[in-house]
Amino acid sequence: MRRRTTPDSFDAAAVRPWNAQLDGLGFGGDYNPEQWPAEVREEDVRLLQEAGVNVLSVAIFSWATIEPREGELDWTFLDETMDRLHAAGIRVALATATASPPPWLTRKYPEILPRLADGTVLHQGARQSYAVTHPVHREYALRMAARMAERYGDHPALALWHVDNEIGCHVPRDYSDAAAAAFRTWLADRYGSVEHLNTAWGTAFWSQRYGSFDDVLPPLTAPMFANPTQQLDFDRFSSDALLEYYRDLRDTLREITPRVPTTTNLMTTSATKGMDYFSWADDLDVVANDHYTISADAERHVELALSADLARGVAGGEPWMLMEHSTSAVNWQPRNRPKTPGEMLRNSLQHVARGADAVMFFQWRQSQAGAEKYHSAMLPHAGTDSAVWRSTVELGATLGRLAEVRGSRVAARAALVVDYPAWWAAELDSHPTQDLRYMDEVRAWYTALWNRGVTVDVVTPRTDLDDYDLVVVPTLYLVDDAGAANLASAAERGAVVVVTFFSGIVDEHDHVRLGGYPGAFRALLGVRTEEFAPLQAGERVAVVGKAVGGDATADLWTEHTHVADGTEVVATYDDGTLAGGAAVTRRDVGSGSAWYVGTRLDRAGLDALVTCLVEESGLTPEVAAPAGVEIVRRQAGDGTTWLFAINHTDEAAVLDTPSGTELLTGSAVDGPLDVPAGAVRVLRTTA
Ligand code: GLA
Repeated sequence: MRRRTTPDSFDAAAVRPWNAQLDGLGFGGDYNPEQWPAEVREEDVRLLQEAGVNVLSVAIFSWATIEPREGELDWTFLDETMDRLHAAGIRVALATATASPPPWLTRKYPEILPRLADGTVLHQGARQSYAVTHPVHREYALRMAARMAERYGDHPALALWHVDNEIGCHVPRDYSDAAAAAFRTWLADRYGSVEHLNTAWGTAFWSQRYGSFDDVLPPLTAPMFANPTQQLDFDRFSSDALLEYYRDLRDTLREITPRVPTTTNLMTTSATKGMDYFSWADDLDVVANDHYTISADAERHVELALSADLARGVAGGEPWMLMEHSTSAVNWQPRNRPKTPGEMLRNSLQHVARGADAVMFFQWRQSQAGAEKYHSAMLPHAGTDSAVWRSTVELGATLGRLAEVRGSRVAARAALVVDYPAWWAAELDSHPTQDLRYMDEVRAWYTALWNRGVTVDVVTPRTDLDDYDLVVVPTLYLVDDAGAANLASAAERGAVVVVTFFSGIVDEHDHVRLGGYPGAFRALLGVRTEEFAPLQAGERVAVVGKAVGGDATADLWTEHTHVADGTEVVATYDDGTLAGGAAVTRRDVGSGSAWYVGTRLDRAGLDALVTCLVEESGLTPEVAAPAGVEIVRRQAGDGTTWLFAINHTDEAAVLDTPSGTELLTGSAVDGPLDVPAGAVRVLRTTA
């Protein structure tokens, strides 16, 4: 395989910003002109301009159009598209066209097809039917990327490279022979000797000891639970293999066009756990994210906020691009609801409030054929006489009024710790309960903070926490010593640190830290748990204490916890086998404090507890707002701030804000800020 690496001469500082040629925020979407005849493409230009679109993602799925038979290249549609968009003043995020290999490639080399753990082959006919580790596929994909760079690298419409598409979306774990071989190489690099692997994997158990790396396989479907560390390392390997695929394509592009920025679209939703995006961040010139709300989720706007904050966390706080979301319904959920009037605008501005400098969609024009024909678009089947089209045009105008927020950063004094390896490890099989879902815990805490109007930065256990007054650590099952020490030092320095059940249990190899749970956090929290006592489905226990609002209930998890001297029990179990035992504790640590929550509180109990924690950490809301009115602040280095007020309710809200200028209505505000039901207001204030 031809392995490219970024040349030593590469100058990262010379890479131009993706939005260097835009005046304000990016607005656009995926554009698939190959699906349409010439007269429609002509009409596109007029309507794109009418909507105010300034950036489009092009050629994501164009490989088979450009190269219908091996070596026969037809660039007509793409040449025309690039020129036409340039003439219209629209910039292009040009894809490598590799997101789906053409049929001739998988027919010629069926060995590049990916496989499931049970050996099922994932055939061509849909998309993403390739093993990222297969050398033949890599060779063809790199060649395609190089051709794109050679042909369009100097094209004036080119703003950035869009590598592949949602890498790992459909095949986050591939169990093909190519993947197995790459896994063995990855393990040899990680462990150096098979004896080190045996120690890390605990292979003295169940006669799993390996005599050679050659005997190691991915965790294929087996008679019983596969070795947990093998599963965890396969998760790590798979994330790295997907990243390496990105890097190879990126380096190919970089060699030919060293000044053009490169990215790929991530999927930081609470359902996508395949990739450790924090470990991908350094390789992206700008973080790009895709997000779709879930019809069945009554609090989808809160989940959206978490996804946006996670994208900003991956970006280390820098502005990022919303590369895809939907104007209305999608096609891939069991029941796909359209968005209500105003919802798409609120969704879009939530992303902007939380750091996005571009709002883009899948896709520009709704397809007439293919599996996504019932997925909404900026221009729907109904045409321009439609609410969706009017909302597209309205959004374009609105983003135009918000041009000045570009480049500013989001203000947050609370941190929420999220860690992908901890997520993978927490959900392994053969655990105390099968009911634990890591993101449920993250989301419950995020929602309680959102309800209190607290903006959080999503961080990892390794992030420098000096800027935070409150650090929330939900179910960090796996943590290494450095991560645990970093969290403890935040409390010493003065932060309120709260850790929840099933945290600090194992080291990076998924070996239990002995001497009582939660091993890594025992000293910080001043607690020691002898045994876990997970609850049965539907079982609840009562929890009492002022910190949980008097009376609360809990489900999923309890544990038998002893407290050390100096640790205060602030809530206890009130019934069940642990009645009278510690459920929530608190301890002074250095200039801060450390709280432990050994169970899963109901919503009211968690809200009460978060209220205590917010008060103790001295966090004050940006602006007092009624429930359901989201307040987020972006700020520039010169002291200018933009207060976003997003009203998700059916009632008008009146907010007591500083004076300033409201950008959507263009009016001066000197007194209360009115935010009509379902509306958004953005108030600029200057220091
Ligand atoms: C993903 C893909 C797009 C499209 C949308 C549909 O985000 O990147 O190509 O399939 O999903 O929601």
